[in-house]
Amino acid sequence: MRLWYGGDYNPEQWPEEVWAEDVALMRRAGVNLVTVGVFSWSRLEPSEGRYTFGWLDRVLDLLADGGIRVDLAVPTASPPPWFSLAHPDALTVTRDGVRLTHGSRDTYCVSAPAYREASLRITRALGERYRDHPALAIWHVHNEYGTPCHCDHAAAAFRAWLRERYGDLDALNEAWTTAFWGQHYSDWAQITPPRATQYLPNPAQALDFRRFVSDEMLAHFTEQRDLLRELTPGVPVTTNYVLAGWASVDHWKWSREVDLVAVDDYPTGRGMAAAEQTAFAADLARSWAGGRPWLLMEQATGYVLGPRASPKEPGEIARHSLQHVARGSKGAMFFQWRASRGGAEQWHPGMLPHTGPDSRVFREVCALGEALERIPAPSDEPPVVEAEVAILWDEEAWWAVQGPGLPSTEIDYLAAVEQAHRVLWRQGVAACFAHPSHDLPAYRAVLVPSLYLISDEAARNLAAYVEGGGTLVASFFSGIADEHTRIRLGGYPGALREILGISVEEFRPLADPIELPEFGRATVWSEVVHLDGAEVVARYPGGGPAVTCHRHGGGTAWYVSTRLDDPGYARVLARAGLAGSGIPGVEVVRQRDRVFAVNHTEDEQPVPLHGTDLITGRPVGGKLGPGGYVVVPL
Ligand code: GAL
Repeated sequence: MRLWYGGDYNPEQWPEEVWAEDVALMRRAGVNLVTVGVFSWSRLEPSEGRYTFGWLDRVLDLLADGGIRVDLAVPTASPPPWFSLAHPDALTVTRDGVRLTHGSRDTYCVSAPAYREASLRITRALGERYRDHPALAIWHVHNEYGTPCHCDHAAAAFRAWLRERYGDLDALNEAWTTAFWGQHYSDWAQITPPRATQYLPNPAQALDFRRFVSDEMLAHFTEQRDLLRELTPGVPVTTNYVLAGWASVDHWKWSREVDLVAVDDYPTGRGMAAAEQTAFAADLARSWAGGRPWLLMEQATGYVLGPRASPKEPGEIARHSLQHVARGSKGAMFFQWRASRGGAEQWHPGMLPHTGPDSRVFREVCALGEALERIPAPSDEPPVVEAEVAILWDEEAWWAVQGPGLPSTEIDYLAAVEQAHRVLWRQGVAACFAHPSHDLPAYRAVLVPSLYLISDEAARNLAAYVEGGGTLVASFFSGIADEHTRIRLGGYPGALREILGISVEEFRPLADPIELPEFGRATVWSEVVHLDGAEVVARYPGGGPAVTCHRHGGGTAWYVSTRLDDPGYARVLARAGLAGSGIPGVEVVRQRDRVFAVNHTEDEQPVPLHGTDLITGRPVGGKLGPGGYVVVPL
């Protein structure tokens, strides 16, 4: 089985004469999978119930003749203008009460009955039409689920979700602490989504709404999935997750429902930072997939986020792709095949740039296609050797930290998790992500970066892990609140106090950086920490404990009560026995039957590998050239 290679293909943006050239160039580039129809609803159903499948028939036939398979989309991310005009109640309402208008994409309310019905109709029509088409390989439902709506349909669905969760209003009032500011609810009908209000909203309500939105979108996904499974048993159904700073869904929960975990990855940094972010994204995807193969559904041939869009530097397209494939991706896909001439994303780079095929980018795209052809796709067994270190990842904790009224606006959950991953990556320590309630004993160490919210169940799980001999490294603002964002009393961090052997009396957010002897610069946060069995590893300038270590049961629990820069955090990890021997910028990923090595530096580097490179067929003799990459079978 070959690795998948290709990208979003939007032929409806081009005259039909271009399509044959597309297929010819795709073949030249080694493309074998394209995602078709993600935003094609208005072209497939120009008015209610009238379908115009002719153009898509011709596209799919052309692709099939060219030996290219299709990840066929259900286009529900972009309802047609006629739909929005006919069903204005299905347009998104923001928290400020503004009803959005069509003219962009993702402008719908996932709870609106008309939208749900129309979604199923177009899904059925596509499923029935293409169920036997030879090009069909994967179903791609929607695109990057992530549009919350605050309208009355959403309110009704939110109430139903809350009834299911809490059973009665007493339980809800208690969980939301509605006694504060006189918010007590005496009828379900009084409850709304967190709409614009005079001052701070209720944090528990805000968090439950994020949970609800994720579940509501999942219900939309599973409706389409079930219909597609019925029509085409055996064809995997997926949807592409959006990564980076925008976690719109509970990925652990969603990953149990998709047949194939698929992610979109657009690093915001450049150079080495982009390589670090790519590894982070791929390890997340690999972890959500539970170690099974998954798919990098979108990336770009350039940098699209940040203040300046520009192409990736020579070699980066391949290196980033290889980072994903090394971590178990079934291939490397892009958005999009041909850069658009007009439209909102006309400056988003393509595999085939505006310049055309005679371009550096297209030559690199072809070279990557050739390289991927030589690497066999992973089998369905978990391809990647399990990492020894797990970093806890929980969207609910992130959402809670994005909530209102916290003691500092500078606590950045994503940055904390990224730092933990980056520091390990730089030292060549393989990491994966785990949910706080996952089975942890297999890991040598578990890192807990700023996990504000921890349920009782997760707290028991972490305690059992340390008692059973594990090493846990928690950083500030972890274990503070329960699943309803209520503070755990009696000294912070209530959920972890006992295993950490400390008790925190006060938080002291920092306006200016301070220096900790040996551990360097500390920013954002500090605490008044009392020892309750733990030893001091580092002290604040005033003498109070800043970093501590506690032997608990058979294991050890470390606590970092401030935000350290990367070298300081690396030093804590080293003290906890987690120093790696990797060369910075040289990435080595072990799969069961092969090893991937990628050199992100501009110098030749030693790599602990000898054998024959699957990509070039050349011998690998313990060295890797500047920017080079190899795959060596074991
Ligand atoms: C993704 C999205 C694509 C395209 C791309 C480039 O997030 O799924 O449709 O918009 O970003 O910006």
